[in-house]
Amino acid sequence: MCGIIGYVGKEQASPILIDGLKKLEYRGYDSSGIAVLDNGVISTVKSVGKIAALEAKTAGKAPSGTIGIGHTRWATHGKPSEINSHPHSSHDGRFAIVHNGIIENYAEIKAELTGLGYTFKSETDSETIAHLIQHLYCGDMVKTLTMLIKRLKGAYAVAILGTDSPNTLYAIRKDNPLIVGIGNNENFITSDITAALSRTHDFVRLNDGEIAMVSADEAKFFNSDGRPIKKTPAHYDIDARAAEKDGYDHFMLKEIYEQPHAIDMAVRTRIKNKLVHLDNVKFDKAYLEGLTKIDIVGCGSAYHAGIVGKTFIEKLCRIPVDCILASEYIYSDPIVDERTLTVVISQSGETADTVAALRLAKKLGSRTLAIVNVVNSTIAVDADDVLYTYAGPEIAVATTKGYTTQVGVLYLIGLEMARILGTVTEKRYAEIAGRLEQLHDKVAETLNNTTVNLAKKYADKYADKHCIFFIGRGADYAASLEAALKLKEISYIHAESYAAGELKHGTISLIEKSTLTIALTTQSALYHKMESNIKAVKAREGDVLAVASRTNSKINYCVDGMITIPECDDDLSPVLTAVVLQLFAYYVAKKRGCDIDKPRNLAKSVTVE
Ligand code: F6R
Repeated sequence: MCGIIGYVGKEQASPILIDGLKKLEYRGYDSSGIAVLDNGVISTVKSVGKIAALEAKTAGKAPSGTIGIGHTRWATHGKPSEINSHPHSSHDGRFAIVHNGIIENYAEIKAELTGLGYTFKSETDSETIAHLIQHLYCGDMVKTLTMLIKRLKGAYAVAILGTDSPNTLYAIRKDNPLIVGIGNNENFITSDITAALSRTHDFVRLNDGEIAMVSADEAKFFNSDGRPIKKTPAHYDIDARAAEKDGYDHFMLKEIYEQPHAIDMAVRTRIKNKLVHLDNVKFDKAYLEGLTKIDIVGCGSAYHAGIVGKTFIEKLCRIPVDCILASEYIYSDPIVDERTLTVVISQSGETADTVAALRLAKKLGSRTLAIVNVVNSTIAVDADDVLYTYAGPEIAVATTKGYTTQVGVLYLIGLEMARILGTVTEKRYAEIAGRLEQLHDKVAETLNNTTVNLAKKYADKYADKHCIFFIGRGADYAASLEAALKLKEISYIHAESYAAGELKHGTISLIEKSTLTIALTTQSALYHKMESNIKAVKAREGDVLAVASRTNSKINYCVDGMITIPECDDDLSPVLTAVVLQLFAYYVAKKRGCDIDKPRNLAKSVTVE
């Protein structure tokens, strides 16, 4: 949510900043801007819309200079406009800042500074920071920032450019990610390593309250009192192509096709000799037996992954599992103590609601286990234990491989806990472990041409619908929640998911001639119940597209279309149905001409509450 890039080096900053912003565009894309310092003057260019608009505006006339900052915005305070877009300048023009987050006490600071004669141009909270820096400036930027940190309330990652320090960028952070990239005679400040990955693989993550002072040949760090601290860069062995489309039309499609590899990394590598290994996460039997419940907390798709996990863990471990939306959890006065295990799920590891939930669970005495993709992100670092999903950078705003790997890791956790508790037979354990070991192959099989062509065919057929329902039972219902979200967020078709048995309690009134219902039909034990639910839709002349397991493909006799998933254990089918319905959503959105990787109003990594 908002992307920050800063560059200081020997080359022209503008093209490097714009290239970095393109990599960060998934974080926000309603407006963007850069500020570059040269000969004591800060030149700023801003543009409404995508980075391409900024690129066009600067073509042939980009500000010159070898130090600068850039920003891609997801509006919170004030509509998308050039005035509201970043960088924002101080009243005297000596400082320019870019900000990600929300300054909660900005109104109070703004009133104070206005009283002192400062004039504000924008409606944003962020502009306050630029003026406040000018107001607090004492000739020493680090000292000034220690004062700034004391004044700001809320969440922020801020990069600062100032005419008094023409070779140095500064940065501060609290509750929003900010990373310093250490290059060769050049250094970077960025919200995400992907923006600088083509130029360096060494990064230092700022912690809350820390200050960075970054010039071309060194990066120094200070705590919130201005005392120097030592921080060592971590080397990220990630191919820069991970942040490129690599020949695919969209990042989403590329990431759908990366799932066999991602599941291999997340799941298969953790099974050795048919035994699950949860890295450094150790559970003992007495601890698990003493648990009154497991809470799974996340937002959006991560929450949906949690619901699949709940179904699996409860079935196998016989421990009650609650799955709670992080934004609700934090204000619900949750009943949590040391007998609760809290599993926190987040692809980005930076989602503000989930970070807050994690901190609350810890405060209440719960052990916390994070399932996270981005290595060393806030949630990964703050949780007691972490299991990475190793899905690699996910750029498309709609998650695909992030979600399926989260589900895969939840399966591993459930299976391992069941083994320790003795709630699964050796035979069933070996069976599931064996199936999990092959899950990446099953995902690859799901991506076969027949399935892809069927997904395209039905996408073409149904792309003009205004509303699509998803139904399922058990694990299928859990999977249908994510399928509906995927479709609605990228195609803008209203989509809702219902437990199939629930239709008759109200929603069936919406089914009329040719309303499309997508019925997930992979749970053998529930086949006949689903068959009845599907017939109830057909009786109202609705269309039904089934996504069925091979065993349940006999449902074909009463539906309008069917896509089958490869043969797999019923408990693990949500990963395969997810892949099919990601493809369906992708091709529907494509047919409708939607901006698939950057759906309207959305941003990846939601770092505001
Ligand atoms: C939907 C999607 C979002 C995220 C949610 C949580 O496709 O990507 O619903 O799942 O914003 O994000 P993370 O997992 O980064 O905490």
